[in-house]
Amino acid sequence: MEKFYITTPIYYVNDKPHIGHAYTTIAADVVARFYRSRGADTIFLTGTDEHGAKNEKSAVAAGKTPQEFVNEMSAQYSLTWDHLGIAPDDFIRTTEPRHERAVELFLNKLKDSGKLYEGEYEGLYCVPHEAFLKESDLVDGLCPEHKVKPELIKEKNWFFKLSDYGDYLKELITSGKLEILPETRKHEVVSFIDQGLEDIAISRPNVKWGIPLPWDKEQTIYVWIEALFNYCSAVGYGADETKFKKYWPAEVQLMAKDIIKFHCIIWPALLNAIDEQPPQKIFAHGFFTVDGQKMSKTIGNVIDPNDWVDKYGADAVRYFLLREVPFGHDGDVSEDKLKARYESDLANGLGNLVSRVTTLVEKFLDGVIPENTPELSLENYPVPELNELITSFKFHEALAKTWEVVAWANKLVDENKLWELGKTDPDKFAQYAKELIMTIKQVSQTLSPFMPEASQKILDHLNKEKITKIEQLFPRVV
Ligand code: MSP
Repeated sequence: MEKFYITTPIYYVNDKPHIGHAYTTIAADVVARFYRSRGADTIFLTGTDEHGAKNEKSAVAAGKTPQEFVNEMSAQYSLTWDHLGIAPDDFIRTTEPRHERAVELFLNKLKDSGKLYEGEYEGLYCVPHEAFLKESDLVDGLCPEHKVKPELIKEKNWFFKLSDYGDYLKELITSGKLEILPETRKHEVVSFIDQGLEDIAISRPNVKWGIPLPWDKEQTIYVWIEALFNYCSAVGYGADETKFKKYWPAEVQLMAKDIIKFHCIIWPALLNAIDEQPPQKIFAHGFFTVDGQKMSKTIGNVIDPNDWVDKYGADAVRYFLLREVPFGHDGDVSEDKLKARYESDLANGLGNLVSRVTTLVEKFLDGVIPENTPELSLENYPVPELNELITSFKFHEALAKTWEVVAWANKLVDENKLWELGKTDPDKFAQYAKELIMTIKQVSQTLSPFMPEASQKILDHLNKEKITKIEQLFPRVV
């Protein structure tokens, strides 16, 4: 049986989830649902990244112990995913024993590889970034992304010889053995490798909230190094060899463009050092802005996906995020845009189609298409072949194509004035009704990874012996 392992980043729990996090997780859910429906043995993994200075600081600010704090915050992530109709097969937390045990084995193996050494490091650490920055990265002395002054840190660390991996990584990526998509991201990674790679610190002596380094308990493992390993811990690394062998390497690792250096450079190098395979594909999508601005607490424009779900429903939010912005590009979202799509595409498009067709079928055919109704000899509108679009992450195109069919079907009702035809020519009406029911079923089938709830509702309704007017799928929102 075909297997399919797809992951999202594990999110920091310093704050609650926003629509950026939801975006990646919805996309992974859609792809996972699609592969599952094709019968693939699928694991869709997401989770939370719970150690490190950033989470610890937020816990202190909240007046809680780190463990209490991360427990509460992690739960907010899983609840939000549930609310959005996202159904991961596994949700990993880096404070779980299964992860801590796997990471310990991983670090020991890394040490045995001879690629680690002890050294002194002096550098500028940006806590919100959980990374060292270079002097040349700063703008007016501040981290350009987080607008904070990084801390000057001088400490004893363990280092990983990333500088040994330039040639290996370049070959891996240019040969396509590790596929990085979109192309622009691949070029970005390759040019970064071409500038020359520096060794990286893999431990922190002064961060207490972390997994101790197995052979030097004074240090904890640098949060990024252990976080990356979640993708292996979750499928049984060091605990269930059969499972691990079966699922690793992942077919697809999804994320946004902000963390590709960690995933396309450090991650495959670490895996190579411990003799494990790199992932097959990394897809890095773009970043959302809200009304043209970066989402930020200071601006106060951070969108909680739960608020949108409460108002518009999970299916609508899923549809909107994937329809609005081509996957891989940056894009702008806002509630006004969501509302506009909700009204035009969902309420007046799909919702109206299903509602009017079921109403007419109930009214003129008493809910049943007569058995012997012949097929319409129409230029049959092909329901688009979406498989290729979904497997290549072209979600917005897949949805746009599906909505061409919805528009075609609505036009069929209008142009043939089916509400009159039902009275004047019941046989002809039955033919149109048959065609439309079939089209709606196909559309719902195609949409089911994107909008699982509405699709199921429509299919259940149309598969009844007697079709009645469907309850409103997308009620008006005020
Ligand atoms: N904990 C690390 C990842 C470790 S993975 C081994 C981390 N966490 S994060 O909470 O900052 O999440 C980053 C990810 O959240 C991005 O890669 C992307 O998937 C998602 N997004 C966060 N903000 C986003 C936008 N504004 N727009 C789109 N996606 C965004 O980095």
